[in-house]
Amino acid sequence: MKQQTLSMRLARVAAQVPAGACLADIGSDHAYLPVALLLRGSITAAVAGEVALTPYQAALRTVRDNGLEQQVSVRLADGLAAIEPQDRISAISLCGMGGETIRDLLDSGQARLSGQERLILQPNGGEQPLRQWLMDNGYRILWEEVLRENRFDYEIIVAERSGPVSYSARELYFGPLQMQLRSPAFLAKWQRLLHLKQRTLERFSRAQAVPEEKVQDMARQVRWISELLA
Ligand SMILES: C[S@@+](CC[C@H](N)C(=O)[O-])C[C@H]1O[C@@H](n2cnc3c(N)ncnc32)[C@H](O)[C@@H]1O
Repeated sequence: MKQQTLSMRLARVAAQVPAGACLADIGSDHAYLPVALLLRGSITAAVAGEVALTPYQAALRTVRDNGLEQQVSVRLADGLAAIEPQDRISAISLCGMGGETIRDLLDSGQARLSGQERLILQPNGGEQPLRQWLMDNGYRILWEEVLRENRFDYEIIVAERSGPVSYSARELYFGPLQMQLRSPAFLAKWQRLLHLKQRTLERFSRAQAVPEEKVQDMARQVRWISELLA
């Protein structure tokens, strides 16, 4: 296979990788992202990290089939342990995992971060705790995007270390830039979530023994989303 066609989700992630980057794609699965970027000539080298054997082997196969063994190092490793200082990584992508998982991989892999890398994150849920980690660790959010593909809403968060940064609780929940941009995909996502959360809140009120704290949290979310969409 000499051509790599990316899903819309990965194509939007690819658009955030700086030209000429050395990319570490962590949780790379088939290594589609680094291979597509190398075939286009938009990055110079890549590490494809995988913790599981089957996707690691799939990544090796994609790289070999495209004759990119010199440019892509495929490594069987847990999270950022795939990155070595001599890789001179300038961008790290962590895509298609839960936001909490991405957060934990960044947190446990801090020793592998130089602080100069652009982080390109595509969490499947758990965006709020991921943004909280970025803020707590001095990363400024440079770009955010919501997109819908195959009936799923996806978010892309791009961040770089900048020094102290402060986001409000609502900015951490919705995304500071998305709250300003209010793209159609962003508004449609929160419209869908509002219906789901309203239904959950109704179920809570009928059910017995739902902890009050949980009810209050759901009510707060419904209020915040309603105010966002008003
Ligand atoms: C759903 S796939 C996403 C693949 C690709 N990044 C994408 O967005 O299409 C998630 C991948 O992350 C890998 N993964 C999960 N935890 C990991 C970890 N701790 N270190 C490296 N890879 C991990 C899984 O094995 C799986 O192949």
